[in-house]
Amino acid sequence: MTLTIGVDVGGTKVAAGVVDADGEVLARTRRDTPADDVAKTRDVIVEVVSELAAGREIEAVGIGAAGWINADRSVVLFAPNIAWRDEPIRDYVSSAVNLPVIVENDGNVAAWAEFRHGAGRHADESMVMLTIGTGVGGGIILGGELLRGAHGIAAELGHFLSVPEGHLCGCGRLGCIEQYASGNALVRFARAGARQAPVRAARLLELAGGEVEAITGPMVTSAARDGDPISGEAFAQIGHWLGLGLADLVQILDPQVLVVGGGVVEAGDLLMGPTRRTFTEALAQRGRLPVAEIRSAEMGNTAGMIGAADLARRR
Ligand code: BGC
Ligand code: NA
Ligand code: ZN
Repeated sequence: MTLTIGVDVGGTKVAAGVVDADGEVLARTRRDTPADDVAKTRDVIVEVVSELAAGREIEAVGIGAAGWINADRSVVLFAPNIAWRDEPIRDYVSSAVNLPVIVENDGNVAAWAEFRHGAGRHADESMVMLTIGTGVGGGIILGGELLRGAHGIAAELGHFLSVPEGHLCGCGRLGCIEQYASGNALVRFARAGARQAPVRAARLLELAGGEVEAITGPMVTSAARDGDPISGEAFAQIGHWLGLGLADLVQILDPQVLVVGGGVVEAGDLLMGPTRRTFTEALAQRGRLPVAEIRSAEMGNTAGMIGAADLARRR
C-alpha cells in the first residue's frame, strides 16, 4: 500500500505523519514552529519529512499551511497570522527531500479529512467546515471535491464579513469573522469581561493568577466548564458570530453538513449550544425546509496531517 506524508504547519507547532490510503497514521513527529522565522520554518518542515521518510517508501508529501495558497499549490502567497509572503514552500521542500510535494490551505486539508473520515463521512457530496484556532479557517467540498476557486483561494471563510467597520483583521480588512469567532476573539471577549466584572470572572482570574492579560484560551475553556459566568459568555459570543456565519454559508451553498473544528470544540455545548441557537434563528424564514446539521469535528489535531497526506496521494 502506498504511503504519503502529511504535514500540518500551524502557528505553534509543525505536526507530521506517515499516512496510508485508509487514513491511518502509521508514524508521527512534531516540532515547535520557529515563531516568525520563515527560513527556519522551511527547514523544520524538511526535517520532519526527512525523519519520517527515512527507511520508508514514500510517494508524495502534502503540506497544510495557514495561509492563502496559489492555484498550482506551490506558494503561500500571504498569511494573516504567520510571516509568510510569497513563500515558495513546495519547491524548497521538494528539492530538499526529493519527493513530489503539494501545499494546501490548512482549513482545506482539515475539511478534506473530516469529509473523508470524520464528521462529514456520511455526506457524499457537500460539506462546509469552519476551523476555529488562532484564526478562522474554512473548507468547502462540493460535488465530492475540494473547492479551490479560480486562483486557489476559495474558502477563505475567516475573512467573511461579520461586523461592518469592526475590529481590524490580520488580512487588513475591518470586521472579518476571524476577529469575532476565533480563539483570539474568545480570549479578547473573556479579558474584556474580566476587566469589567471581575467578580463574575473569579474562577478565570484565579486560573490566570489574577492577571487579566495572562488569560489564555485553555483557561477560558476550563473556567467555563467550572461554571465561570464571564467565560461562558465569551463562548456564547463567539458561538453567536459562528452561528450567523454558518447561516450565511447555508444561504450560499446549502451543503449536506456543516462542521466546526479546532481546539474550542472541546468546550462542547458551551460553544455549540449558542452556535446552533443563533443559526436556527437566523434561518427561521426557511420554515420547515431541510437545513444542514452542524456537527463538531471528530478528528482532532490529526485532521491536518491526514487531509494533507490524502490530497498528496490524489495530486
Ligand atoms: C487564514 C487562512 C487560514 C486560517 C486558519 C486565516 O487567517 O487567512 O488561510 O486557513 O487563518 O489558520
Ligand atoms: Na480554506
Ligand atoms: Zn480578515
